[in-house]
Amino acid sequence: MNLAGRDLVSINDFSDTEIRAVFDLADEMSRRLERRTASGPCRDRIMATLFFEPSTRTRLSFESAMLRLGGQVISMPDARSSSAAKGETIADTVRVVQHYSDLIVIRNPLDGAARVAAEYSDVPVINAGDGAHEHPTQTLCDLYTIRKEKGSIEGMNVALCGDLRYGRTVHSLAYALARFGARITCVAPPGLEMPDHVRNRLRRDYDCTPAEFTSLDQVVTDREVIYHLQVPATQVADAAGSDQLMPVWDLMSLFDVIYLTRVQRERFRTHAEYEAAAGSYSIKRAMLDKAKKDALIMHPLPRVDELDYRIDRDRRAAYFRQAGNGVPIRMALSALLLGAEDPGPGTHPPETHATPVNTPPGLVCPNERCVTRNEPYLTPRFVSVAGHEGALQCAYCDREVQQP
Ligand code: NCD
Repeated sequence: MNLAGRDLVSINDFSDTEIRAVFDLADEMSRRLERRTASGPCRDRIMATLFFEPSTRTRLSFESAMLRLGGQVISMPDARSSSAAKGETIADTVRVVQHYSDLIVIRNPLDGAARVAAEYSDVPVINAGDGAHEHPTQTLCDLYTIRKEKGSIEGMNVALCGDLRYGRTVHSLAYALARFGARITCVAPPGLEMPDHVRNRLRRDYDCTPAEFTSLDQVVTDREVIYHLQVPATQVADAAGSDQLMPVWDLMSLFDVIYLTRVQRERFRTHAEYEAAAGSYSIKRAMLDKAKKDALIMHPLPRVDELDYRIDRDRRAAYFRQAGNGVPIRMALSALLLGAEDPGPGTHPPETHATPVNTPPGLVCPNERCVTRNEPYLTPRFVSVAGHEGALQCAYCDREVQQP
């Protein structure tokens, strides 16, 4: 099965075997980069980067990836200088840009915007972040980093910390971690917890119910460690019997990966709401003393005040290496979608759990930031939620709604 011509809007658009194929090709791309033999596969191909929100890493690593592959890039200097500023819709923008390029990479503030782009484009579309919805290519970089540095994803105890409500990277990442068998713990201040539709899907489709805490400073009991964090009871008993660890554990000491996120200021309705949440998460140098000796501290970046600069020199600080992995990963992904590389035998597309339904008259998505509430030509579309009588999900932003 080929990935040529496909879109990547949600991380769930790719099966596990397809994600592994991206990782294997990214390894190969790294080797070619070292040997300086990477350019070639995408000669005569053009990537268009349409960024309607600020970006440094995602955009530059996509552009660098395409140039490294021997291809070319067209791009808007910034959204204010594009026709979007004159009111051009997402649909019209991609219907035009598809004639100028072979692959479109889009970032937009509306939840579900990338799905719309994919629906209207004849060339493959990659979601580089759509509002608070998903950021699947960041997830590919994150998973690849964990796999590379820890050897595997399965069985890893991963803490997702910070703004889990508006942080799109953690939505895609939670799905992928669950699919690859990691144990997830969510650490978020009240009000910024993982949205219901993400939690429900984790439970329903991937049989994963993350443990939830409000602070990384928390101490937890043996019982919580065994039941919520799923550390085997024998391991807990061994540790409790040792001199170093007591039957009450520092939460920090339990994780193989601690993934921090920035509070997403741009998604709050008022500055006061943001101020109330800001600064709620940070890792100070001293907190690292409690972490495992081989833990990974990760962050999609940019950081605000989540990570003490004094941590940067610690080997466990993986965030700059994580950002660096963006180039081979995006080289692999772009080459596969362009059909310039073959994913190899054994890959197959994902099975779908969602069935489209006829939209009940008058039903609109309850999410104000959903693309269907902001782009007038779109008709709301829903899919049924398997095993949940009457529950529907927006086909663009995934928000759940009860059938009237
Ligand atoms: C993230 C994003 O844009 O969602 N940045 C990135 O792509 N590396 C995270 C963030 O902005 O906080």
